[in-house]
Amino acid sequence: MPAAPPKELISAAEIAARVKEMGRQIDRKMAPGPLTAVGVLRGAFVFMSDLVRAIPREMTCEFLGVRSYGDATVSSGVVEITHDLMAPIAGRHVLLIEDIVDTGLTLRYLLELLHARGPASIHTAALLHKKVPQSAALKVDFVGFEAPNAFLVGYGLDAAQLYRNLPYIGAIET
Ligand code: IMP
Ligand code: MG
Repeated sequence: MPAAPPKELISAAEIAARVKEMGRQIDRKMAPGPLTAVGVLRGAFVFMSDLVRAIPREMTCEFLGVRSYGDATVSSGVVEITHDLMAPIAGRHVLLIEDIVDTGLTLRYLLELLHARGPASIHTAALLHKKVPQSAALKVDFVGFEAPNAFLVGYGLDAAQLYRNLPYIGAIET
C-alpha cells in the first residue's frame, strides 16, 4: 500500500500568491536591465518556473546542478557541481534561485563560486528559509516563507527523489 500523502503545510494557492508577490519585489529591488536567473537543480525547478514568469523583464535562464555529499537530510556544505552554467555571467545581474535554505552552506558555496565569475550583482531568492543559527549570517534577499521545523517536501522539494511533483508544501516524518 502506498504511504499516506504528506501533511499539507502551505497550500498551492498560498504558494502561487506569494511567488507572484516575490516576482514584483525582485523586479522593484534589482537594478534595471536584463537578468540571468540561475536555478539550483533539482529542487528549485518548480519554484523557478513560476518565479521567472512573475518577473516582467528580459532574462536568460541558467541552471546549476549540485549534489551534496553525505547524508541526504543533513547538509555537509561540500557540494559537487554536476551541471555548470552554459553562459558566462560576467557583467550580468544574477538572481540565484534555491528551493530551501537550511544551514546556508550550499548557498554560501554557490555565492562564492558565482562571485568569482565577475557578475554585476548577485541577489538570492529562496522559497523557504529554515531559521537555524548557522544560516543567520547569510543574506537571503528574497524569502517566500519561513520554513516550519520539519522535513519538507513538494513543489520541487524531495525526500529521496520523491514528492517533487506535489503541488503543495508538505511535511513528512523522518
Ligand atoms: P543547506 O546547505 O543546509 O542550506 O541545505 C540546502 C539544501 O538541502 C536544499 O537546497 C535542499 O536540497 C536540502 N534541504 C534542506 N532542508 C530540506 C527539507 O526540509 N526538505 C527537502 N530538502 C531539504
Ligand atoms: Mg537543493
